[in-house]
Amino acid sequence: MKLLKMYTRIGLLTLMSALILSSCIRDEQSPGYEYTPDMYRSPAIEAYVDYGEIRDTIRYEKMHQISARKPVPGTIQFSDNAMNDMPYSIPNTFDGYELAGKTVTSPLESTDDIVDAGAKIYTNFCVQCHGKDGQGDGPVVVNGNHPAPQPFNKGLKDLPEGKMFHTLTYGKGAMGSHASQLTKEERWKVVAFVKTLQKKGEAEGKDEEKE
Ligand code: HEC
Repeated sequence: MKLLKMYTRIGLLTLMSALILSSCIRDEQSPGYEYTPDMYRSPAIEAYVDYGEIRDTIRYEKMHQISARKPVPGTIQFSDNAMNDMPYSIPNTFDGYELAGKTVTSPLESTDDIVDAGAKIYTNFCVQCHGKDGQGDGPVVVNGNHPAPQPFNKGLKDLPEGKMFHTLTYGKGAMGSHASQLTKEERWKVVAFVKTLQKKGEAEGKDEEKE
């Protein structure tokens, strides 16, 4: 029994001195043995770098591996505005356009504030083609020979809001998509303003005809 104790002590002593001695390294700059070195030095992966080519070495197996990944298909962006997050599910087809006209309605109420916000967006994004009063006579059309849209209060008077939203999302004919410039909420705001232009000028229009 005594012998066993002695051996254990000698064993422990040897182990401890081995550990202590192992920290005596000649190279002062050396950090010594590193446990989980990744924790001290994380691999510096830079976005947009092709790791196949680092200085003079080309590592074929790493070539064309991008480090900044695209989101997986079906990823939905997250914001604190659920209206902007959910994808627009109606496809960019003729049937989709008709379906939008029948089923897609604005989630916003056309309050004065919403219409005012829409008017601002209209001034920034639409007036150059559609004109101040939505007559299709903006400077791009008048001076730039761009195909003219119909006046909102005439040819487009009965256009349902769902079709407007669809057109703003995908574009139509000579009008491009505004989906990348305007969030869904902004698109609905400008639609609220365009609806006022559809009604506007019904009386004024008659006056114009008289002139
Ligand atoms: C580059 C000029 C241009 C700009 C900018 C533009 N539009 Fe248009 N818009 C057009 C033309 C041209 C048409 C006619 C498209 C067609 O029916 O072929 C049109 C059509 C429309 C229609 C009718 C769509 C339909 O379903 O028939 C609406 C509504 C509309 N635009 C709203 C807007 C709003 C709102 C903006 C600003 C966010 C805007 N447009 C910006 C040129 C433009």
